[in-house]
Amino acid sequence: MSNYARLSYLVLSFLLVQSCKPQDSENTLVFNDELHSFANTKEVHTTHLNWDAAIDFDRKQVSGTATWNFVNDSNARYIHFDTYDLTIKKVKVNNKESQYFLSPMLEEYGSGLSIPIQQGDTVVSIEYFTGPQATALQWLKPEQTAGKQLPYMFTQCESIHARSLLPCQDLPSNRITYEAKLQVPKGMLAVMSAKNPIEKNKEGIYTYQMEIPVPTYLIALAVGDIEYKAIDERSGVYTEPSMLDAAWKELSDIPMMMTAAEKLGGPYRWGKYDVLIAPPSFPIGGMENPRLTFATPTIIAGDKSLVSLIAHEMAHSWSGNLVTNARWDDLWLNEGFTTYFERRIMESISGKSYTEMLWELGYQDMQSDFKDMGLNGEDTRLKVNLKKRNPGDAFSNIPYEKGAIFLRMLEEQTGREKFDAFMNAYFSEHAFKPTTTEQCLAFMDRNLFNGDSNRRNALKVREWIYETGLPDNCPKINPERFVLVDQQRALLESGAPVSTLNTMGWTTHEWLQFLRKMPRPTKMEWMTNLDQRFQLTKSTNSEIADEWFKLSIASNYKEAFDEMEIFLSQVGRKKFLEPLYMEMKKTPENLKMAQRIFAKYRNNYHPQTASKIEKILNAK
Ligand code: BES
Ligand code: ZN
Repeated sequence: MSNYARLSYLVLSFLLVQSCKPQDSENTLVFNDELHSFANTKEVHTTHLNWDAAIDFDRKQVSGTATWNFVNDSNARYIHFDTYDLTIKKVKVNNKESQYFLSPMLEEYGSGLSIPIQQGDTVVSIEYFTGPQATALQWLKPEQTAGKQLPYMFTQCESIHARSLLPCQDLPSNRITYEAKLQVPKGMLAVMSAKNPIEKNKEGIYTYQMEIPVPTYLIALAVGDIEYKAIDERSGVYTEPSMLDAAWKELSDIPMMMTAAEKLGGPYRWGKYDVLIAPPSFPIGGMENPRLTFATPTIIAGDKSLVSLIAHEMAHSWSGNLVTNARWDDLWLNEGFTTYFERRIMESISGKSYTEMLWELGYQDMQSDFKDMGLNGEDTRLKVNLKKRNPGDAFSNIPYEKGAIFLRMLEEQTGREKFDAFMNAYFSEHAFKPTTTEQCLAFMDRNLFNGDSNRRNALKVREWIYETGLPDNCPKINPERFVLVDQQRALLESGAPVSTLNTMGWTTHEWLQFLRKMPRPTKMEWMTNLDQRFQLTKSTNSEIADEWFKLSIASNYKEAFDEMEIFLSQVGRKKFLEPLYMEMKKTPENLKMAQRIFAKYRNNYHPQTASKIEKILNAK
């Protein structure tokens, strides 16, 4: 943070309009640099949102009114909101037009919006429109969609992007219910993380309800040529018409997953569980928007081999959406518990030998982060330090995989039965409450270790959470199915021709193991022969293609580059793009190719993805 002095500035009331009363000099719009927010929820917190908005594709703008109910517990004289690149048109408090103050923009955190309130006030309504820099929004041209006829837009609000969609108290610790009324262009359907319509209507006006309280990062919206197909009474899929059947087939195990999830987590509390398959530029794999997971179409492989991502987002219905990290430095509570939970769902529907492969691939991802950050890297702690840092900057596989394997260690050491009872109780006792790492550990002490601190110390719980690196009681993973894969690779390396490799019955995961461990560079002859025999350059499985392209760059196997460019022009998923651009950076010639490709397609990428790739290409 270059100009840190600006972080802790106070805005005195004389900046507000003069007619305010003398005590208004107490107005302090303070940016909290640990919570990444201007909101003063400790004094006055929002409880319900009524959002009335129109989606304008020509202007790439969302405009409307956010009406917030709030509770003023401590006789606060101001309510503070977060905004990012929003233009505020008018503010009313209890239906009377009001003054307001919008602070200067504080880098990626946006501007604080301060509104004077009086005792007895309960409602504030803010008329506004979004800006061109909105980090939560991606606007797609018709060419960027599957159908190519209508434009599309979607949001991605985690961690601190909801403020660029609407003014809100953008903290994971505050929960709100919401209702919305949206006007969208004719021929389009809009869906939210709420009770959703399942059909287009002529007017293009739709209404939504989320009557279960959620943090603001779980507000979500997608608008486009979207249709719905039910899988069962509780679940179904939303996507563009040309994708609908393929997506529906790929996701048909959702009811089975749900049965497995409820066994571990307790009853599903959100009513419906639907999935929106977004266009390919969706910047991440999936997002656990309540009632409606958003997911990348790159999981539609045709053989259900990538559906563990859905198990992951579904698992968030407990870990994350019910029990929510109180702060972003507690992110491992969301992602570590969810990754563990995801593996348990997969074990239940696909068996142990399958799931062990997922554990191993995740373990490898974690090891690769340890390699990049150093075993003593600050962000290898489960509880990270986010003071004066954007949550995105500390993001890695650590909260996911170190978090998950920590829980696996606890399960192995305490026994599955006891561990499952603990998980279940953890979800029900902390439901709808923001939870800190410390509260989670205290609950573990009581419910897993029965207050026996020796037991806790023997399992190195503090070290797991607060120290860098990996404690020495980390479980060992050794999937038998990968032993067979490694044997085949060893044969190749000892001179056996590609044509003799036995890959019978390999799933996506065996292929990933095979490719990840190939020597870099791999001999051109092997690349050519592997490609000829297994059509890897033309793979329609995004995970395999991505792994193959990485190996192709490292081995300078140029035959794959045209296909890779097509992949890079369409897919916006950061997890695929970042490693490819990083790999291309390694030689001057490939760096040139990376710069050319990025310049050509950056407009296809989500703003969050584009800025990340830009950083990669510009870093020394
Ligand atoms: N909640 C996350 C996505 C996220 C985390 C967005 C932090 C912004 C900040 C989501 O559940 C997730 O983890 N998605 C993964 C897929 C999963 C299978 C590991 C992804 O998008 O790659
Ligand atoms: Zn997750």
